[in-house]
Amino acid sequence: MEQKKYYIETYGCQMNVYDSELVGSMLNKCGYQITDDIKSADAIFLNTCAIREKAEETVHNKLDSLQSLKNNKPELLLGVLGCMAQNLKDVILDSKPYVDVVLGPDSYRRIPEIITNRNENMNHYVDTRLSKFEVYDDMFPSRREGVNAWISIMRGCDKFCTFCIVPFTRGRERSRSIEGIKKEAVEAVRQGFVEITLLGQNVNSYRTPEGDFSNLLDEIAQIEGIKRIRYTSPHPQDIDENLVKVMAKHSNICNNIHLPLQAGSDRILKRMNRTYTKQEFLNLVKMIRSIIPDCELSTDIIVGFPGETEDEFKETIEVVKASLFNSAFMFKYSSRPGTKASQYSDQISEDEKQARLEELINVQKETTLLRNQRYIGQTVDVLIEKDSKRSELQWSGRTEGNMWVVFDKSNCSSIKDIVKVKINSTHGVTLFGEIVNSLERKKNEAA
Ligand code: SAH
Ligand code: SF4
Ligand code: F3S
Repeated sequence: MEQKKYYIETYGCQMNVYDSELVGSMLNKCGYQITDDIKSADAIFLNTCAIREKAEETVHNKLDSLQSLKNNKPELLLGVLGCMAQNLKDVILDSKPYVDVVLGPDSYRRIPEIITNRNENMNHYVDTRLSKFEVYDDMFPSRREGVNAWISIMRGCDKFCTFCIVPFTRGRERSRSIEGIKKEAVEAVRQGFVEITLLGQNVNSYRTPEGDFSNLLDEIAQIEGIKRIRYTSPHPQDIDENLVKVMAKHSNICNNIHLPLQAGSDRILKRMNRTYTKQEFLNLVKMIRSIIPDCELSTDIIVGFPGETEDEFKETIEVVKASLFNSAFMFKYSSRPGTKASQYSDQISEDEKQARLEELINVQKETTLLRNQRYIGQTVDVLIEKDSKRSELQWSGRTEGNMWVVFDKSNCSSIKDIVKVKINSTHGVTLFGEIVNSLERKKNEAA
């Protein structure tokens, strides 16, 4: 019998990337192999995101484009997974009756049963119940070869920021066992991964009877063979000195924190329900850099939150300048039906949001340039990840601080090595340099 094939497309955050790998491993067990050719697939899954309106539009368009494929091949299984499935199952089922399966993020264990029963039950299959317990602790994802392995350590979010859909699409916070996570990390190392990124909607709210996030990080750092550890995304409220000290203690935990600010005005932060003030955020940045002086920070910002005045937006700019982030993900506020902020009457116009976004992007560009220029003349450790986009003769890799570096290949360097690179220049978000050993060789040759 011919091998069955599945195709999966992933939208949204890294949690979805991880979930797609979990779904992949379940499909493997049902005899399905992955394919990159959507036309030849027997099953197509879209793992969706609902964070902003644009994300949803992209999936709607993709589903529209799949209708003809499904018409020509009725036995094709078309599944919608993830956050939009959770949130918009009725809309999807009404407007796209050709979708066979709709599963929310806590229902992926149903996949084998759906695949097996498919012939008898050709009707829609929908399960979007949220669970208080599901953490898929006993499952190993099916990862593609690479440098970094994502490991989900907790799921859900209880923070209820007023702009955010995640608490509704992902449900309540729950953490995996330290044992389960360690097992998965050891397995990832055995499979050849050298970097681990611990994931959670609120990664540092991780809590089990055996320990909190600092304890977990401390244990993972001691697993042999892990060259680098990262985590994302933490909530500023849950970062304490203890956590930063654990980071400082282990050389394989990267000096890099993604610290979402969202806004710089106290009134807006309060309206967002972010639970910290501008000053508390700035103190946190100070505390982190007092313990790890070369810690690189990145952030997320929303501009044009309902009621944000021009002066309040300027406060965001101020905090962004003062925090010296080396990069930022910047978004225009997008109203999400069902969230508290979507009911606020003082929504900001699209033009105003666009203007604020552009201003902020320009400010951050300057800071990125300044932050990157500090490295010129310095030698940094770079983990080689892939060929550079420009040339097969050059490597592309990341520093501990999460900055991309491009440099000429040397004879003895290969993917997954950490090499010393002397930085010569910077352009945009990228640093350019030379491997130090080959620099020395050049000097010797000249002498
Ligand atoms: N749990 C993470 C965020 C996940 S969502 C955290 O708290 O940091 C990633 C980012 O999307 C958020 O940090 C926020 O900046 C942005 N975002 C979330 N909801 C949004 C909305 N309604 N409009 C615009 N951006 C939004
Ligand atoms: Fe959304 Fe806030 Fe939870 Fe992050 S912490 S996922 S922004 S509700
Ligand atoms: Fe999107 Fe869901 Fe992640 S809404 S950002 S895929 S948690």
